[in-house]
Amino acid sequence: MSTPRLPLPTGGDSAEPRRWFQHAVFYEVLLRGFYDSNNDGIGDIRGLHEKLDYLQWLGVDAIWLLPFYPSPMRDGGYDISDFFNVAPDYGTLGDLTRLLDDAHHRGIRFVADLVMNHTSDAHPWFVESRSSRDNPKSDWYVWNDDDQRWPQARIVFTDVERSNWTWDDTRQQYFWHRFYSHQPDLNYENPEVADAMVEMVKFWLEIGFDGFRLDAAPYLFQRDGTAGEHLPETHEFIKRIRKEMDSNYPGRVLLAEANGWPADVADYFGDGDECHLCFHFPLMPRLYMAVRKEQRYPITEILSQTPETPDGCQWAIFLRNHDELTLEQVSEEERDYLFSEYAKDDRMKRHMGIGRRLAPLLDGDRRLAELLYSLVLSLPGSPVIYYGDELLMGDNIYLGDRDSVRTPMQWSPDRNGGFSKADFAQLYLPPVMDAVYGADAVNVEAQCRNPGSFLHWLRGMLVQRRAMPVLGVGTMEPVTCPNPSVLAYVRSGTVADADPTIVGPWGATRATEPGFAGGAWGPPPAAPTVVPVGRGEHDLAGQRTQAVLCVHNLSRFAQPAELALARWVGCTPVEVLGRVPFPIVSDEPYALSLAPYGYLWFELSESGEPA
Ligand code: GLC
Ligand code: CA
Repeated sequence: MSTPRLPLPTGGDSAEPRRWFQHAVFYEVLLRGFYDSNNDGIGDIRGLHEKLDYLQWLGVDAIWLLPFYPSPMRDGGYDISDFFNVAPDYGTLGDLTRLLDDAHHRGIRFVADLVMNHTSDAHPWFVESRSSRDNPKSDWYVWNDDDQRWPQARIVFTDVERSNWTWDDTRQQYFWHRFYSHQPDLNYENPEVADAMVEMVKFWLEIGFDGFRLDAAPYLFQRDGTAGEHLPETHEFIKRIRKEMDSNYPGRVLLAEANGWPADVADYFGDGDECHLCFHFPLMPRLYMAVRKEQRYPITEILSQTPETPDGCQWAIFLRNHDELTLEQVSEEERDYLFSEYAKDDRMKRHMGIGRRLAPLLDGDRRLAELLYSLVLSLPGSPVIYYGDELLMGDNIYLGDRDSVRTPMQWSPDRNGGFSKADFAQLYLPPVMDAVYGADAVNVEAQCRNPGSFLHWLRGMLVQRRAMPVLGVGTMEPVTCPNPSVLAYVRSGTVADADPTIVGPWGATRATEPGFAGGAWGPPPAAPTVVPVGRGEHDLAGQRTQAVLCVHNLSRFAQPAELALARWVGCTPVEVLGRVPFPIVSDEPYALSLAPYGYLWFELSESGEPA
């Protein structure tokens, strides 16, 4: 067997190889919606395996795999009935290990969704726990005689659940659940439960996962007099898992799904001893707000409230995911505004958010999609792309709950969008079929053939990003501009010149990657040339400084920008996509004209030499 291209860390002295996640672009995959290899209407592991060529061609570094465990599927698989297996519809553990091995050979990592807070009520642990008050698992869940305990705890699915307590007839007690009433919460006060979860983590690390997305991280513990979120006990438990990973599985990562204010979420980094990554939930709705208000303030305000990440940590930033576009982290007034702008039809609302995909949210405006991606790819944090959004796929708001955004991936204009050869009626969900977003109009095959497609644009941007490691690890410095519609910042810092773990083991090879047939249909994006730029000094051996100026016009009209770039006097901004040198920065405000929703990335080159 050939050696994997992925430098899986072996526990050497250097921390760098373990920091791959700071440079990674993540891609979120709904297994049942991605590709159906055996034509039973349900996407599966072998199907995903067949599409690794595509994902490698696209240039993503890590896949976040949504739950694949056995489940009654009443909450998209987040209602798990066996933590140690793969749902038969998706394949076998063998299929999974083969997928992970092959992915690692290609330099692609895999992060599993880990649901630790609750199980399905069909899980044998719960079946036993509810059967009596004195069985061996009686304390594995959270039981109470009345439903009045912890009144401060909020209800997450407000439109469906009335209480976090549900009565159980057999046991004659209430059980606690933060989500659906068919998802009882595990009792972390019981050390047996905590130990079982650590065993589960080890099991999947042994299988070969490179880390976990920690589902519903804030809710593990409850305590009287609190809202039962972000409790110190919960942080302690996550740190225990981190310790286990650091000691025995270095280089594997934890990504927290903690929906809260920046300061609360930042606690999940601990002192660099808890989660490696946390989703930046409050930033996401403010990106949508900024482009409708045509003002940068929603973004700059939330960034100014965002604490520095500890060394070795990173935000994860995203536009959409498999859930509703949550509006939990905005004020009531802002929520009303976002609903009125983005959910004009009540059927678009889901829980406390909006059940639509990126493209329909933006009224199909490609310029706006490019602008938002330009932000996500250049703001501090690792970008996370939701499957199908690289095509600007549509949604189906007439499907229940969050199925509106979980329809089959659109591969081609063939039957069922090329997702499956099963009969239409057998598909897990109907594909989008409308004239605007249906597979006839939006699919991978067509976009691969069209070099001007959104798919090619995004792929090209990922190539550019990889050539600028400072976008992963650099600091962000706001650039003053009197025009409120313009958001400009410089990402700068020291990056390693030729460290394969920084530019990625794939840096040199990705652009010429064979394999995905679609690649042959369009010209490859411009070669990723890394130019020594910024202040230019190679201060440490193999290290150099890099600085990238990113300018965004959040308005639908053309805008002038006068940027305060005094710190960079004498530098030449070299536009990244075309390598065109712009006028040298002087001590006057730097003037640019920006197209509607325009964005520009410049490397600040001291020499002024275009590559
Ligand atoms: C997370 C998941 C969501 C699920 C919930 C309960 O928020 O993203 O899809 O419904 O947890 O498990
Ligand atoms: Ca299948």
